[in-house]
Amino acid sequence: NNRFIFKRFLTTIPKKDIGFVFDIDGVLLKGSSGIPQATTTLNYLSKHQIPFILFTNGGGQKESTRANKVSKLLNLHKPINQNQIVQSHTPFKTLVNKHRRVLVVGGPLDSSRDVAIQYGFKEVLRPVDLIKANPHIWPFHRYTQEEVQTWGLDPKISKVNVESPNQGAANEPIDLILVFNDPRDMGSDFQIIQDLLNSQNGVLGTTRHIKGGSSKPSVPIVFSNNDFYWANEYPQSRFGQGVFRILVESIYSKINHGKQLETLVLGKPFKISYDYAHHLLIDWRQKLLNGKEDDKVLEPKLNDSPDVSPFKKVYMIGDNPESDILGANSYGWESILLRTGVYKDGDFEKNDALARPSVGVFDNVQEGVFEALSQNGLLKH
Ligand code: G3P
Ligand code: MG
Repeated sequence: NNRFIFKRFLTTIPKKDIGFVFDIDGVLLKGSSGIPQATTTLNYLSKHQIPFILFTNGGGQKESTRANKVSKLLNLHKPINQNQIVQSHTPFKTLVNKHRRVLVVGGPLDSSRDVAIQYGFKEVLRPVDLIKANPHIWPFHRYTQEEVQTWGLDPKISKVNVESPNQGAANEPIDLILVFNDPRDMGSDFQIIQDLLNSQNGVLGTTRHIKGGSSKPSVPIVFSNNDFYWANEYPQSRFGQGVFRILVESIYSKINHGKQLETLVLGKPFKISYDYAHHLLIDWRQKLLNGKEDDKVLEPKLNDSPDVSPFKKVYMIGDNPESDILGANSYGWESILLRTGVYKDGDFEKNDALARPSVGVFDNVQEGVFEALSQNGLLKH
């Protein structure tokens, strides 16, 4: 009857006016352990059909694998759908039509190549393949013999022949470097990246000579995030991919007579990634409304802002003022900062320039979300 429909309106429709975007490390997880309040919070939102996605600067795995892992670690009633996850490298899939043969750096040995292949890249190399082709490329690499044998591609397949660099088909140029995640063997990753940036058209074993150097590298490089710090189980924050980027840029500049390396950097706090995440949040809301949470993955374009947003408010919940909070504030979302990760009390006093959360600072994810729900009259006390 009408009364029933009206009641349903009140309890379901307004809840779709607000959306939540959760950071993962330092908000839902600490390393490989779940933060207990994350379980109650996500279960609550799922139960009440309030749209949310996870938006992390982490990565190295397929979105579906990541969704399953988070769901298991948090023991969620309703598993996270792969459409609810944006990892730092998720937008890399928009580059597949422009680049064929790519070098994937960072991420676990047993998964990072598969991620790039799933995105649609035709030829995916990793530093371990180049080490297999010629270990002298970085004699101090930390891969075990077994790892090189198991994970390194046969040089006939990888088409890497560093002994005779100009052998044409036997040593095909690499046309893009994708830093998927924090390096696992930083020494070899670092050397190989510099080799390619300063090569002749991406051919390994060659060196270009440009008088005065150049800002434009021989092979374009994309970093998936810019985090200086991130939070795991260790008491202090740990260096992230942003530190690796600084190292790469500084040595490139040294080699190129002070020229600054041209790069593309994705992830939070950049608008390019917030737009991408916003599309997924809008799509997830629609899936909830349609009652059809299928596995068809939405693939927004890069640099494409949603024309309209159905949300009155979107709340970003993060632990890092320099990525989550700065990005959300600049994007026009509300921001909630937690004490469970990178941010520590007193940080604002030490650094005036840090972005401040629009809603406030909370002890954990549940406190933050409950405040947002209360402000919108969505929480029954
Ligand atoms: O490598 C992990 C990282 O840099 C941060 O992840 O989930 O806090 O954005 P997250
Ligand atoms: Mg975080």
